[in-house]
Amino acid sequence: METVTDIVTLRERLGEARRQGRRIGLVPTMGNLHDGHLALVAAARERADYVVASIFVNPLQFGAGEDFAGYPRTLGEDRTRLEGAGCDLLFAPSHATVYPQGTTAQTTVQVPGVSGGLCGANRPGHFDGVATVVSLLFNLFQPDLACFGSKDFQQLAVIRKLVADLHFPVEIVGVPIVRAADGLALSSRNGYLNDQQRARAPRLYATLCHVRDALEQGTAREEALRQGLTRLVEAGFKPDYLELRRHADLGAVSDATREAVLLGAAHLGPARLIDNLAVTLPR
Ligand code: PAJ
Repeated sequence: METVTDIVTLRERLGEARRQGRRIGLVPTMGNLHDGHLALVAAARERADYVVASIFVNPLQFGAGEDFAGYPRTLGEDRTRLEGAGCDLLFAPSHATVYPQGTTAQTTVQVPGVSGGLCGANRPGHFDGVATVVSLLFNLFQPDLACFGSKDFQQLAVIRKLVADLHFPVEIVGVPIVRAADGLALSSRNGYLNDQQRARAPRLYATLCHVRDALEQGTAREEALRQGLTRLVEAGFKPDYLELRRHADLGAVSDATREAVLLGAAHLGPARLIDNLAVTLPR
């Protein structure tokens, strides 16, 4: 697997692959790779014959006071993992390569609607940063398909709308959440947790399961969500939100809604954890 850091070489490599008629699958990441990221590479491998990954800790999607500076950067180990997973090319650019004019002068992309509420409410500007860098990466790679995890459910919805609205000819593949044996969704931010916090962290997923079960057994929505928030607080979390939305478009749930998604975000010590779970509401 070759690692490329500049745009000229990247375009040369992609041009060669395209001339050979290869189908290009992209896996965008911020690095510090775990089995969740590698599931995206595997999904790309199944659907494409030239798999490219990017590692770029995107300053544009971090707010003031967030963990941009401390975000784990483990390029050597990431390279080994990507190679082992069958990735063909890694793009690992510097900030100056991606944003030569700096981030304040950067043209940005905003995706209205789905970017609001949930993580968008707690992290203003976050999804503008994501939509901008993903648009930029789609432009650079011009992939046939790109894989994203459903762990970041709202991000996936933002990217699907971005691709539809800007007519990007890219197939978006959503990949199921990869979890640790105790249920915790794998995340680069889990590394911020000490042993005691790590032992508590699966309570986020356990709470989502509890609320889902209550909802599927007919408990009223407000009551089920209230119970869930109480459980999170009792487990030592500081919740940002626990919400039920329509699965298809993250719109507000009504009595007619059957397929829903329960989404939670909560701080545990130094880490902000997110997770979600599909819920089928009873008639
Ligand atoms: P990052 O957090 O590194 O995640 C890269 C991709 O891995 C995302 O699509 C994310 O949903 C997926 N992923 C993370 N943990 C996962 C898990 N446990 N199971 C399945 N998939 C998982 O998300 C980003 O980076 C950035 O916002 C990015 C899209 C790269 C734009 O900068």
